[in-house]
Amino acid sequence: MSDEQNPIVEEAKEHKPKLQTPPGFHDILPKDHEYFTFVKKVVRHRARQAGYRRITTPILEFTEVFDRGIGDATDIVEKEMYTFMDKGGRSMTMKPEGTAGICRAYIEHGMKELPQPVEFYYIEPHFRYDKPQKGRFRMFWQFGFEIIGESDPALDVQCIFIAYKIFKDLGVEKNFTLQINNIGSQKSRAKYVEALINFYTGKERSLCENCQKRLHKNPLRLLDCKKEDCRILAELAPKFIQYRSKEDSEFHQSVKEFLEELGIAYIENDKLVRGLDYYSQTVFEFWDAETGAQNAVGGGGRYDGLMEIMGGEPTPAVGFAVGIERLIDNMKKNNVEVPSKDDVQIFVAQLGDLAKKKCLRLIDELRDRGVRTIGALGKNSFKAQLRLADKFKVPYALILGITEVRDGTIIIRDMSKGQQRYVKMDEVVDEVVRLIGQDNLDMYSPGEIVVA
Ligand code: HAM
Repeated sequence: MSDEQNPIVEEAKEHKPKLQTPPGFHDILPKDHEYFTFVKKVVRHRARQAGYRRITTPILEFTEVFDRGIGDATDIVEKEMYTFMDKGGRSMTMKPEGTAGICRAYIEHGMKELPQPVEFYYIEPHFRYDKPQKGRFRMFWQFGFEIIGESDPALDVQCIFIAYKIFKDLGVEKNFTLQINNIGSQKSRAKYVEALINFYTGKERSLCENCQKRLHKNPLRLLDCKKEDCRILAELAPKFIQYRSKEDSEFHQSVKEFLEELGIAYIENDKLVRGLDYYSQTVFEFWDAETGAQNAVGGGGRYDGLMEIMGGEPTPAVGFAVGIERLIDNMKKNNVEVPSKDDVQIFVAQLGDLAKKKCLRLIDELRDRGVRTIGALGKNSFKAQLRLADKFKVPYALILGITEVRDGTIIIRDMSKGQQRYVKMDEVVDEVVRLIGQDNLDMYSPGEIVVA
């Protein structure tokens, strides 16, 4: 049956609108992958240098992991989770962030027995049913780092520093401002929360609808609401600094001193509280120097209480995550270009069955030597093949026809000069390697494997 008569094809033709990605989801096309690959490479490199080990938690977890971990009064848990019942009647959620799942894994695999702190990094997709808009997606990628098992302000700064190093490697470190705050321990925060509720009580009518709801559930969030009236009130609200304990202040002071030691500029922002409930002490965000609070490129902080909430022993920890799409957007906005490693170097054109057969081995040999090679083996017209070679913008094409096969030769064509010459078939690989140059060969070394 031809496609014309196939009822499924007919139905698909009538079915409108055309199939497309759901709102907030997007394809990563090859051109963007050059950026993604580069960012991942830098992250892996910096992580390895500093002894972080990679971790991947499942995309689906039991909903409770996030309810407990992120906090059920947060926007993420209240409104933004992709939650559904599986066929076994269990409530499952697609991970909206990485930290809660990593704590679950730390407890589940008894990692407290490992030398502490345990240091992880991850590069993963995450899912939030957010309102799609510029820089805000429903599926987005983050890279993140977590240091679990020790509490010291130097570790908070180590986190900030590795983010800074990665931004620097990517040529964007000057485009972000580091905002920091200390929101104290659970204990000192309780008194502050009480003071905040007292302050806002009676002023509810001046708050936006969202903040009215959050007043008793999550009053800290009122401080970083972006609505004009709420911002005016937040300016007048009591400041946490009045409630910070001596230990909190000392911790914060050390963080600042370590940052200064490393030459990292920061802005103290006493309204920065972050959107997740698990933080204590240090919180920080990287803001776009031009657009400010909206669409922070990354953020994190200390979460000393989370492990216990997740059912483990009290275990201090600190970490952060960066949104890769937002980071790439910033790189592009600032004209940062990444090296493209995908350009094809050799196009092999052939005519006739015998030539095609010979080309199969030749293409393989060239690739093994590190030459990025393609051949249009599906095309039989010689003209069509050379047109394709032009489109791929290859510097050289190899041309093999019946005569060349018989003579044991092959043609090398310099595509930019339009000049061509014959070489012996058994010398062509060496000749191509010479033309491309050792430095431009695509050799990779995955490391030696041992088959035990
Ligand atoms: P977060 O601030 O929710 O923190 O997310 C970190 C970064 O992920 C954001 O700064 C942003 O760049 C990116 N991001 C978040 N939501 C979206 C979205 N809808 N579309 C595009 N990008 C987005 C966390 O996720 C914490 N787990 C970070 C952390 C790790 N704290 C401690 N350890």
